[in-house]
Amino acid sequence: MFPFRRIQVILLLVIVIGMTGFLYRWHSLHDPSNWLSPTMYDKDDNQDLVLKRKLIDEKYCGGPCRFILPLFIMEQESKAQMHFRQLAFMSGLVNRTVVLPNVGGSRLGACLDNDFEFYYSRSWAVKNQDHFQHITMNDFRQWLLERQAIDRPGTSQSMHIHVNLRGHAVEPNNCFASQHLLNMNGLPERRLYLNETANPLKRLYYEDAVKDFFLGVYRDAESGESVQDEITDKIEVLSVYYDRRFPFVHNPAAETPIPYSEQVTSQADAIAKELSPYWAVHWRTERVEPASNLVGCAHALVDYFDTRAPLLSALHNITSTSMEEDDDDDDKSNLDKELQHHQQQQKQPTLFLLTDYPHVFDEKDVDEAIANNGTTKKMKPASASFSPNSLTISHHQAIQYVYKHLQVHVTHLAEQSPSATSSASSPPANWTVVPIPYDIAKHDPGWLGILDKLLAMRADGFLAGQPSVCGRKSSFTNQIMNQRLDHPRTNVIDYFDLPKPSQQDDLDE
Ligand SMILES: *[C@@H]1O[C@H](CO)[C@@H](O)[C@H](O)[C@H]1NC(C)=O
Ligand SMILES: *[C@@H]1O[C@H](CO)[C@@H](O)[C@H](O)[C@H]1NC(C)=O
Ligand SMILES: *[C@@H]1O[C@H](CO)[C@@H](O)[C@H](O)[C@H]1NC(C)=O
Ligand SMILES: *[C@@H]1O[C@H](CO)[C@@H](O)[C@H](O)[C@H]1NC(C)=O
Ligand SMILES: *[C@@H]1O[C@H](CO)[C@@H](O)[C@H](O)[C@H]1NC(C)=O
Repeated sequence: MFPFRRIQVILLLVIVIGMTGFLYRWHSLHDPSNWLSPTMYDKDDNQDLVLKRKLIDEKYCGGPCRFILPLFIMEQESKAQMHFRQLAFMSGLVNRTVVLPNVGGSRLGACLDNDFEFYYSRSWAVKNQDHFQHITMNDFRQWLLERQAIDRPGTSQSMHIHVNLRGHAVEPNNCFASQHLLNMNGLPERRLYLNETANPLKRLYYEDAVKDFFLGVYRDAESGESVQDEITDKIEVLSVYYDRRFPFVHNPAAETPIPYSEQVTSQADAIAKELSPYWAVHWRTERVEPASNLVGCAHALVDYFDTRAPLLSALHNITSTSMEEDDDDDDKSNLDKELQHHQQQQKQPTLFLLTDYPHVFDEKDVDEAIANNGTTKKMKPASASFSPNSLTISHHQAIQYVYKHLQVHVTHLAEQSPSATSSASSPPANWTVVPIPYDIAKHDPGWLGILDKLLAMRADGFLAGQPSVCGRKSSFTNQIMNQRLDHPRTNVIDYFDLPKPSQQDDLDE
């Protein structure tokens, strides 16, 4: 072998050995099999690391860190935030700090894509700091990283709360454990089963049951005697999976909804100002039986807008303005003048439509779908559960009737990079799509759901399809109606329905 050849080989060997060593070191640095067991941290004999750990914890928690990390919360936005409030207030009762979970797709959970403040205002947690402490996901992650860097990652146990033994929800993985940011080595999962019941009296003891669960306390039902396990209380992060239907925390402060983020509320204010005066209509058309009802319902809706809605809006205007007037003498003549003025001005309010029918389409596609007995490949319903095959001719005829007789506005999530096809479509003349920029809403349907809900609450009136005649029964409708009831102003909440045969008989007689 030539000498320079030998040098080349030696160099190569040095590089290979060096790389292997480096990779090995890099790998073993956060190798979970080298970690202390979570139960051994208080017997740690590495005094240097004990001190470092203490300093990190003091920086983030002012003392030893104890967190509740909501990994999975059952149900969608309004209900899910009610459940999260239970966990936050419970954290206070067991002296732990709740981590504000991420959000996305109308859900709440630590491993979702967007920060808590994408949907909500953190002012809620600050305002409630007498009841519980919180930490942002960002700070929590920093704490995890600093602890991982000294090879004493945060210790964690999985805590599951179920409604019954059989129907376990499909739970996501713990993304912090799979990134080796949490040490869960050898710790058993713990599960609490609490029968769900709509009867609040039967739920009275659930607060104590969940508290015991988070404290690792086992209580004898008959004697009331209790023992505390050696593990749960010392665990730094309780990774909580939460599946319930009803609240259990007794503190009335837990009932107040979390305010939505400044970004979504200011967007709602701006759009509401633009649309005003307007009425919001929630019309869920998926699987209305028989679908042929929808056409008659569309006529009823348009009638409502032509006759009752303007009258009700005018009445509302008069009562609210006359309440502000102080001058007694002029009151009556003023009212007459007002009424005259409003009657002259009577006109259809704008319709803000919340629907599962497609929001973005070409007018020609609807004509084509109607010509083909409802079949179309071009139109996509605005709800994931609503398959395009379930759009019937009646859906198209109903919505077409509406946009031929009313000014309709719908919101729509703009794509990151708008495709050429969608911008080329020409919607019907009276169908206005309000696009929500990608920068703001990140194409998240949950964000849009909150915006729509806020717009429905700001509307001059609110209508929904009569359940099981004109529309599907919907908890979303009920939420809007309940929230509108809390509004301090005159309020119209109503259903549109097919004409009742009995009313027809009355007229005939
Ligand atoms: C929580 O901390 C407070 C104040 O330090 C204490 O009084 C209370 O007993 C603690 N509660 C639990 C469940 O440890
Ligand atoms: C919970 O429900 C199951 C089945 O419905 C029943 O067998 C059990 O006794 C209930 N447990 C409690 C504590 O009510
Ligand atoms: C109600 O009053 C507002 C402001 O005074 C006006 O813009 C609106 O047109 C009125 N609505 C009706 C239905 O008269
Ligand atoms: C039209 O579509 C409906 C379902 O939407 C179906 O029941 C009916 O048979 C179809 N009619 C024809 C003529 O294909
Ligand atoms: C738009 O709506 C108005 C009622 O607001 C109606 O008179 C008009 O015919 C509609 N235009 C079209 C093109 O459907």
